[in-house]
Amino acid sequence: MLAAPVGDDVYGEDPTVNALEQRVAGMLGHEAGLFCVSGSLANLLGVRLLVEPGREVLCDVQAHIARAEMGAHAAVHGVTMRTFPSQHGRLDADQVAKIISPNAGPYLVSTAAVAVENTHNFGGGTIQSFDQLEAVAQLCREHGVGYHLDGARLWNAHVATGVELAAYGRLFDTVSVCLSKGLGAPVGSVLVSTAGNIAKARVQRKRLGGGWRQAGILAAACLHALDHHLTRLTDDHQAARTFAEAVLERSPEAVELDRLETNIVVVDTGTRPAAPLAAAAAEQGVAVSALGPHLIRAVTHLDVTRAECEKAGAIVGDLLRIG
Ligand SMILES: Cc1ncc(COP(=O)(O)O)c(C=O)c1O
Repeated sequence: MLAAPVGDDVYGEDPTVNALEQRVAGMLGHEAGLFCVSGSLANLLGVRLLVEPGREVLCDVQAHIARAEMGAHAAVHGVTMRTFPSQHGRLDADQVAKIISPNAGPYLVSTAAVAVENTHNFGGGTIQSFDQLEAVAQLCREHGVGYHLDGARLWNAHVATGVELAAYGRLFDTVSVCLSKGLGAPVGSVLVSTAGNIAKARVQRKRLGGGWRQAGILAAACLHALDHHLTRLTDDHQAARTFAEAVLERSPEAVELDRLETNIVVVDTGTRPAAPLAAAAAEQGVAVSALGPHLIRAVTHLDVTRAECEKAGAIVGDLLRIG
């Protein structure tokens, strides 16, 4: 990071940022990329490229863009959302087909885009079926609407399935990916699309105060993550399984093992409230979050070893058993 050549990215003059943007765009089969401070900003800009104010983006009821981006798409860009149901975040093209409505007339909001998450965060790290992703791509084409991928953890889906990143990427008009999260860079996400779209997103990023300087210091860490931390995501997937098995040894049925596909473990706390349980785990050095009143979420990443995950699972399992 210290050795990275840097410059003023507002003028496109930071060589390390440019290298990162080109590299990620290439990996995802797109023309151009835009380095952003967060996944939320990359989603905000990506969705806006496809949806004019006063129109809607469709997403599933558990989508990060709907639940956890502080209403930014509406508050900042005038984009409304309509949600379709999903089982643990899994995309079902029939559900999208039921509500897609690009020419809704003078009385109803018209659909301008569909957004999909892969892997799905609140669904528990679930991987979308490629067939369903393709079916929705086809639906979007037929209806002339845009298709956005919130690929914050697309890397995990790629490593778990072996599906090429570009095969995923090419289905979509806009894709956001995070270099933080499992890949382990301290900061940073990239939005990819056509060169024309990215030029527009660059202007909007600046408008929102997201133009940055000497960001190559951060982009260098992202390049390092791509070089060294991509294939090791399988370790995180194994560590998640180790954690889940340790929980299950002490508290059978708290985790559905067949739902566990990547690095996120959803633990059902039964009748126990999740928040105090998460607080008790934190006291013993295990950081998990309360995802709902009776659900906690554990995420594995490169800073935790498999042995630590086993210990963490034992702590959470014991808390569940003892209360
Ligand atoms: C699926 C998904 N999309 C987007 C984001 C937003 O990323 P950030 O926290 O960098 O804004 C997250 C964060 O957890 C996420 O899980």
